[in-house]
This record gives sequence, C-alpha cells and structure tokens, in this order.
Amino acid sequence: MTIYSFGSINADHFYRLPQLPQPGETIACSDYSTGLGGKGANQSVAAARAGARVVHIGAVGSDGVWMRDRMTEFGVDCTHVVILDAPSGHAIINVDADGENSIVVFAGVNRALTMPQVEAALAQAKTGDVLLLQNETNLTVDAARFAQERGLNVIYSAAPFDAGTVREILPFVSLLLVNEGEARDLRFALGLTDAQVPLPDMVTTRGAQGALWQSSDGAHFSVPALKVAVQDTTGAGDTFAGYLAAGLAEGMVPQDAMQLATAAAALKVTRAGTADAIPARAEVDAFLKNQ
Ligand code: RIB
Ligand code: NA
Repeated sequence: MTIYSFGSINADHFYRLPQLPQPGETIACSDYSTGLGGKGANQSVAAARAGARVVHIGAVGSDGVWMRDRMTEFGVDCTHVVILDAPSGHAIINVDADGENSIVVFAGVNRALTMPQVEAALAQAKTGDVLLLQNETNLTVDAARFAQERGLNVIYSAAPFDAGTVREILPFVSLLLVNEGEARDLRFALGLTDAQVPLPDMVTTRGAQGALWQSSDGAHFSVPALKVAVQDTTGAGDTFAGYLAAGLAEGMVPQDAMQLATAAAALKVTRAGTADAIPARAEVDAFLKNQ
C-alpha cells in the first residue's frame, strides 16, 4: 500500500515565550529555532517514520529546497515535490510555557499546486492506496475527487478548518480527522446546510481525553490519552494523522492503528519542534509496550 500525501510544506519559525502575546503587546524572545513543518509535510514524515511508503505531492520555492531534502532524509519520496519561482510557505509559531501554541501561516507556493501534478503522481496508484490530505493547499477537493474515482481511500484532516471545503469534500472522503474544535465547527457547518448529511468514518482527537473513532455505520470506540510531560503540542495532530494512515495502510484494525497514532502523538508532545520531533516507529512501539 502506498500513501500519497498531497500537502503543504512550511518553514516553521518557533518562538518560545512565557505567554502568548496579547493584542498591542511586544514580547522579547530569547528562544528561537527553525525547522521543517507544514501540516502536509508533517503528516508525510509521520507516515514515513511509521514505516509506510509515502509519496508527497507539493511545492517549495527555491528558498525551500532544504525542506524537500529534509523530507527525503526522513524517507519521503519527493519526486512529485516541485520547485517554483515564488516564496515557500512558512509559519510563525509562538509556544507558551505550557506548550500551547498560536500559529500564523503564510501559504506561499502551497497554494500553487496543479492537477497535472496530482495526476502524474497518482498514475501508478492502485485501488486501496491512500490519499492523505489536510487543508493547507489549493485543490484539496479536486485531488480528493480524482483519487476517490481511482479507487483510493481518501483520509482528510480538516485542518485548518474551512466550512466550504469540508462540505464539498465529504462525498470523496473515507476517513475524516478532526480535533474537538474542528468537530464543533463541523457540526455547525453541516447543520447550516442539512442535518442529515451522511458522514464517513470519523476520528476526533480530544487532547487529554484521548481519541474517538466513529464508524459511518454508528459503531464507535475510544482510546485513552497517554500521560506525558507536555513540551510542545505543535504538530501532534499531524503526527497522529500520519501514523494512523500508516497503521491502516499496513492492515492494522482501527483499534490498533488508533493506539499507535495516540502513542506517536504523545511522544511528539514531549519534544519541541514539528517534523524533526516526530518519533520513529521503534520508539513508538517501545513506548506502547511500556504502558
Ligand atoms: O500543525 C502544525 C503545522 O501547522 C506547523 O508545522 C505549521 O507549519 C502549520 O502548518
Ligand atoms: Na497540529
């Protein structure tokens, strides 16, 4: 099984602060670092670190070739990551003393992706392969439709949440991933149009409350969160998504894939940073064994 990951690649700029800045406030910061990020890249790196075969479809500017190289080092196939003559995506990430964050994203070339790129990448795809998506690029709906028509399973993380996109993309999605805030936004977004909208299988990550799987047929189960010392929650959702997709792609039952993803996200939260802080499969397996 191959995971095709259509998604954003950002240079993440991290600022560690005692508390997040208030409107009108200036805060001096003595702890700055930078690294590979972007919800799409993070998901790809997570799935690759979990052991999946991952083909990323995306773009960087000529200022971002190092990000493509970093993804390749993590085992992601970047043949379909193009280099465009415009700025790469980047994110300004403030992290407070409790590990909470607030993020500003500049999309850059992440919104200059094209369908021919998707079509070329998926030319070799087989029925049952996965298209993994988040919401930081253009063409998410078109890519999902194209992949579903080709018999791929579309896994869509509705982050950052956009009501219009979620309404349009749902018919093509086999597994929808949301956090608690996005779950609320989703109920609101769907309630506005039609309360009876059929939902695909859905996973809601609930921080310290663990994660909930709800099948389209009504069956559901949850896995508890694992207790860890929080350093930085940035990218935890992406780590969860990549590991979950990888677990399912290797044939795990949902319960086991959810447990694997929960453990991977918990380990990520103990480390500062995004893609570079995503744990390897061996670490996650060892961590799970010790629970
Ligand atoms: O989910 C975390 C990611 O969101 C960061 O890596 C940042 O680039 C933003 O896209
Ligand atoms: Na996240």
